[in-house]
Amino acid sequence: GPEAARLVASRVLDVPDFPKPGVMFKDLMPLFADGDAFRDVIDGIIAYHGRDSFDTVVGIEARGFVIAAAIAYATGVGVVPVRKAGKLPRPAYAASYALEYGEATLEVHQDAFTAGHRVLVVDDVLATGGTAGATLDLVERAGGTMAGFTVLLELSFLGGRERLAPRPVHALLTV
Ligand code: PRP
Ligand code: MG
Repeated sequence: GPEAARLVASRVLDVPDFPKPGVMFKDLMPLFADGDAFRDVIDGIIAYHGRDSFDTVVGIEARGFVIAAAIAYATGVGVVPVRKAGKLPRPAYAASYALEYGEATLEVHQDAFTAGHRVLVVDDVLATGGTAGATLDLVERAGGTMAGFTVLLELSFLGGRERLAPRPVHALLTV
């Protein structure tokens, strides 16, 4: 709701030309660092989806890990990491995508999900949607069902939401 949007809007820092010239980086570390705001945001995400609507929460490396772990702890579900290529020790599925800057590959363990488990995916920012789209692909290949996708901040002018269509995207703040 408007309160969550205000919390995000007041605690995001715009960093010009990071990680490369022409990119305006959205730094949400100030939100993570504010205990009251972080807890309100986490509780808001859980309330939005309903605490019984998912069996597992996926966090996307790296900033998604922070959000996913908090939701998992608060709800009693487990957390599954989607990682950058080469970090997982056991057989994994891989999905590559073009990022706003550069290209990347994400991976998930092949046995990460019990078949049919409802998966809530969380990340800090939705930009071009490459990260989100690759993660959706990984979740479904590994046998999960995406029950929801939430980001703290959506940059709507980059059209990332289309990458998950027709699945709904929940953003605490859309700019
Ligand atoms: C940033 C951000 C999202 C992603 C969004 O992560 O945290 O995960 O980009 O961009 P997209 O919608 O265009 O794919 P980044 O890849 O910089 O990695 P990090 O979280 O490990 O810093
Ligand atoms: Mg990220």
